[in-house]
This record gives sequence, C-alpha cells and structure tokens, in this order.
Amino acid sequence: MGLFITLEGIEGSGKSTQISKLSEYLTDKGISTLAVREPGGTPVGERVRAILLERPEKSSEALDITPLTELFLYEACRAQLVQDVIIPALDAGSTVICDRYVDSTLAYQGYARSIDLGAVAAINARAASGLMPDVTILIDLEPEEGLRRATARMSGVTGVKEDRFEAEDILFHKRVRDGFLSIAEFDPGRVYVVDGRGEIASVHDSICVIIDKVLESV
Ligand code: TYD
Repeated sequence: MGLFITLEGIEGSGKSTQISKLSEYLTDKGISTLAVREPGGTPVGERVRAILLERPEKSSEALDITPLTELFLYEACRAQLVQDVIIPALDAGSTVICDRYVDSTLAYQGYARSIDLGAVAAINARAASGLMPDVTILIDLEPEEGLRRATARMSGVTGVKEDRFEAEDILFHKRVRDGFLSIAEFDPGRVYVVDGRGEIASVHDSICVIIDKVLESV
C-alpha cells in the first residue's frame, strides 16, 4: 500500500503550489506519486465540480444549492474518486496526494455551513469507504490573507473575481479556518499544521520534514 497524503486549507492557502512541489520531491526520491484533487478527478466528478464551482455571469443564473445538496454533491465526487482512482493507486503501491478530502467537508459544510458534524462525519466515512489519510497537512493562514491571494490569482488568470466560496463573507472563511484548526486539535496524530505565511520554499521544507518522518515510520 502506498502512503495516502491530503493537503487542506482555506482558499489561497497555497495548497496547489505545495502539492506540485511535494509531488516533485517524492518523485525525485523514486516514489511513484499521483496527485488528485477534490471535487473532481473522475469524469463524473469533474461534471459535478462544474455545478459546484460554477461562476454565473449574472446573479439570476446562480444555482440555488441548499447546504445539504452541496454536501451530497461533494460526497458523490468523493465516492467515485476513492473507488476509481485512490484505492487502485494505493493498492498498486503509489503514494497519493489529494488536494482536499474529508476534512474540507467537515470544515466547509460542517463548521461553516452548520450541518450537524456527526452527520457530516458519518457521510464522509461512507463516501470514503472508510479510507482515511495516513497524514494530513493543514496549511494555516488568516482568511484575510488567503482571500487577498485567491482574488488576485483569479482576476489575473480569468478576469473573473471569485467563485461561490470566494464570494462568501469573511466570517464564513473564519469559520472554515477555525473548523480546520479544531480538526487538527482533535486528531494531532494525523493532522500537522504548517504556517502558510512563510515563503513558498520554507513552507515546502516544513512539509517535507513531516512527510519524511511519516515515511520513516511506515
Ligand atoms: P477549488 O477551486 O479547487 O479551490 P481551492 O484551490 O481553494 O481548493 O474549489 C474547491 C472548493 O470546494 C473550495 O472552496 C472548498 C470547497 N469544498 C467544500 O466546500 N467541501 C468539500 O468537501 C470539498 C472537497 C471542497
């Protein structure tokens, strides 16, 4: 079995950059590595992702998705990704790095959208077929800074300012961040918190130290 690594954090925390650097680091060590992202990563998952993250031109075209519907759409993506991609890759001995996983659902739909945490945890477990990460890196950042980075990135690349979540107010993102920190507090053996304020290279180094320690222990 390969190692299952997840990266978590608020918008603009730098997960994607860190995932590609970590992926390169592990590949250079001769470890077969697959990077995937949630929601998405399968044909059906990418279609559901388009619904979840659609950026309407006009507010009248916005899909009015209830929190519970949103929860099930994320879980549907996960169920497919775990069965079709993650489990087969781990079984084949690859290390899998997943950009967001069950902790994002607890933080966004549970802590931030206020769906009962026990219910979210139960549906998470079912959609994930009970598969939990060996190690989770939480890149922690103030929501103000994360949103500033995310908005700059999106307006630079696409000319569009924000998606459904980036359009949420700052209090929503504070609840997400605090949710992630609570998860880390409850599960310190799995979730490692890395300060996301540092330079890209120093955040990468901190992540490598953690992953190397986990690799030595398996
Ligand atoms: P994405 O564009 O991939 O953002 P990021 O680069 O920040 O990961 O969009 C994913 C969005 O989906 C992000 O705002 C978090 C949200 N999300 C949930 O609300 N619940 C979930 O279970 C998952 C996996 C993601």
